[in-house]
Amino acid sequence: MQSDHQAPRPLAARLAGALNGRVRVPGDKSISHRAFLFGGLAAGTTRVHGLLEGEDVLATGRAMAAMGARIEKRDDVYIVDGVGNGALLEPEGVIDFGNAGTGVRLTMGLVGAYDFAATFVGDASLSRRPMGRVLDPLRLIGTQVVARSGDRLPLSIHGPRVAAPISYRVPMASAQVKSAVLLAGLNAPGVTTVIEPVATRDHTEKMLQGFGAALSVETDADGARHIALEGQGPLKAVAELTVPGDPSSAAFPIVAALIVPGSDLVIENVLMNPTRTGLIETLLEMGAAIEITNRRQAGGEDVADLHVRHSELKGVTVPAERAPSMIDEYPALAIAAAFAEGKTLMQGLDELRVKESDRLAAVARGLEANGIPHVEGADSLSVTGTPDGKGLGGGRVVTHLDHRIAMSFLVLGMACGKPVTIDDARMIATSFPEFETMMTGLGATLEPAALA
Ligand code: S3P
Repeated sequence: MQSDHQAPRPLAARLAGALNGRVRVPGDKSISHRAFLFGGLAAGTTRVHGLLEGEDVLATGRAMAAMGARIEKRDDVYIVDGVGNGALLEPEGVIDFGNAGTGVRLTMGLVGAYDFAATFVGDASLSRRPMGRVLDPLRLIGTQVVARSGDRLPLSIHGPRVAAPISYRVPMASAQVKSAVLLAGLNAPGVTTVIEPVATRDHTEKMLQGFGAALSVETDADGARHIALEGQGPLKAVAELTVPGDPSSAAFPIVAALIVPGSDLVIENVLMNPTRTGLIETLLEMGAAIEITNRRQAGGEDVADLHVRHSELKGVTVPAERAPSMIDEYPALAIAAAFAEGKTLMQGLDELRVKESDRLAAVARGLEANGIPHVEGADSLSVTGTPDGKGLGGGRVVTHLDHRIAMSFLVLGMACGKPVTIDDARMIATSFPEFETMMTGLGATLEPAALA
């Protein structure tokens, strides 16, 4: 079901008492998508623990089921029976990915090397997002594309009889594009190589190796990563796959605790893969009281518990090079910056313009509606903070079907003198269905609001 077919659900957040408690955020979204994709493809049974049951991930599960995988939930574990590499079946109907950019882009890569047709649709947000970045390399392997308007959904693809292995230099910092090309390479004879000048999240590489793919990574003198994958090899199920907590979801309780006076929280089991920890690095530079404790390994990844207390923050400059390791966290960082002493400058934000919304513009409009001084550049944002938050808030924020805009501005409302209303909370369920109950359980006040 596409959630934008139901009525919008406006929600308001008002000044909370201190946020206190110990929580676990849901499983990492990137790893959960890949657990369904690779578990559904590999021969044998993969048992997935801690999967994110967000709408985006469930859409990927349905897509894999439509192509032959068997997926079943028993107790808290997802049991995925895969088809074997190269053995996906042609899907009968249209595949609806709702709001899920990662789901649709990775799945298009995967099936783009199969000699059958697949048709993809999505909600209004996904239908506005650029798909050419994945379709262009697919065209090089021989995939036919039929799209009604530019390279956007709805569209159909049909792979060649035999896909060509390619060497592809990813033109933008995108883990989705890197992953789509590698997944196409799984069903091409010979070696597919992806060259990544700027490192992005490495879950595809690590997980494919875990599923037995012949994949190697080398870094050249310029720092570019060369990822080589031998196609048409066997993929074998991972008996027990554990998904760590999502640092992109943890961003919301972290920032809330930092800006709501008196707060003291522990967030357990957060993924600490260095390709994902840019927000924590930045907040520490801003003076945040975040203690990283109980560092350990889970599911082949570093995880830790985070002890976060209300903090006096100061503005910093966030360099463009850090963007890939915190690309989904800028909306939350902008809210922390609104409470920091001085100015926070965020650079290298061009990719934010093609997320679930134009996130740079959506954040800027939300800040404006709530009286927060800021400057929106073509690929930068600077925010001037008001440490006590008095006088801020009172605005109504347009979320443009973007879950992270919705959660960020609810967090803002938890610390402002005046309440903050978002026009629609439905999309929160795409990545963090427990957000509202978790935050109210910690002490936040969220209330239904009137339709505009
Ligand atoms: C993701 C990659 C990123 C990120 C998205 C998840 C992934 O997108 O924003 O939420 O799982 O590969 P881009 O590849 O477009 O940067």
